[in-house]
Amino acid sequence: MRTIEDLAKADEGRGLEGKRVFIRVDFNVPLDKKTGKITDDARIREALPTIKLAVEKGAKVILASHLGRPKPGKTAGLSLEPCGARLAELTGWEVHVPEDCVGDAPKKVIHDLRAGQICLLENLRFHPEEEANDEGFAKQLAELCDVYVDDAFGAVHRAHASVHALPLLMRDRAAGLLLEKELKALGKVVHNPEKPFVAILGGAKVSDKIEVVESLLSKCDVLCIGGAMANTFLAAQGLNMQKSLVEADKLPLARTIMDKARDKKVKLILPVDVVVAEGVDATAGAVVDTTAIPEGQMALDIGPKTVALVEKELGRAKTVFWNGPMGLFESKPFADGTLSVARALAKVGGFTVVGGGDSAAAIKVAGEDVVKGIDHISTGGGASLELIEGKKLPGVAALEQAG
Ligand code: 3PG
Repeated sequence: MRTIEDLAKADEGRGLEGKRVFIRVDFNVPLDKKTGKITDDARIREALPTIKLAVEKGAKVILASHLGRPKPGKTAGLSLEPCGARLAELTGWEVHVPEDCVGDAPKKVIHDLRAGQICLLENLRFHPEEEANDEGFAKQLAELCDVYVDDAFGAVHRAHASVHALPLLMRDRAAGLLLEKELKALGKVVHNPEKPFVAILGGAKVSDKIEVVESLLSKCDVLCIGGAMANTFLAAQGLNMQKSLVEADKLPLARTIMDKARDKKVKLILPVDVVVAEGVDATAGAVVDTTAIPEGQMALDIGPKTVALVEKELGRAKTVFWNGPMGLFESKPFADGTLSVARALAKVGGFTVVGGGDSAAAIKVAGEDVVKGIDHISTGGGASLELIEGKKLPGVAALEQAG
């Protein structure tokens, strides 16, 4: 797989100078529901090195992304304009957002681009053909550019037109610097993790994480499970979880996973204590052992004894992968477990990777020092899990077939 640096170095007219370079980025950033403002611009910042490299090499830069999951014909609140404005603030460039991502509007903007200006196409998902991986739509995008670069790690697990069909149409196609960095970091965890390898999984449901659990059981030495998904395992061991979220239909699956962990000699750490309350809106919680959850109460975070067990494992880890919060960390009374694990992770001497989404958000809430202490915080939630599961990612496969 070539990278944008290889393309930049290429001679015989195959470099980037004067070329229209299409960079697929993942500007699918979280927006405030009321104000529509960007609440975390990490995905925009992480794409800057690739965009800057293309600009420095004299390319005409065309950025393209999806934002949200627009329903057919509904575009309100999902324009990429705010991302363009943020990018302009971060770089000082003029960012032009044509009214559509294909057709005459972007062609005119791209034709007129001067130094210090870049084009950010309007939301690709305003066209259902994007998600349908439609070849005709990909051809319309291909008309806009000479070179294709994929830097949208967060979207490489989607077989969508701008990620899959389009690169296959382009002779010059390559990975951007962010995609390269993500694949290297996560590849280290998947292919040759230094041992002991500790994996920490959290989040609401076992059903969302079955494949990643299966895959981790063949790689890791210790698997720590927290968050609501741990409740299903504890219930499968016969504990009374009272009002806690338990996936009753997944109890047999939880038992199978526990058996597999034993057979593969993977140490499974489940909560021994939890923070309980009557419901998710509670303003305070109480720490109890998982064997003594009071009637009418639900587990909303892991307790301090469980945190200590995880910290002990992290203390000797050489590789750590973490995905999913340990509790309802958005709510202050139930944030301690997740934030303590984040702080402990930052002190690990070995290689530490956090797989996108909520756990990446939690790392940021834990503070700048914690962020600095982690080797790699992925910009992709679903994409990082699919990589760990060992799946072939369509966006990566399309680049690997490069001629
Ligand atoms: C993400 O946020 O994980 C990526 O941008 C992919 O978005 P999607 O899940 O809507 O395809």
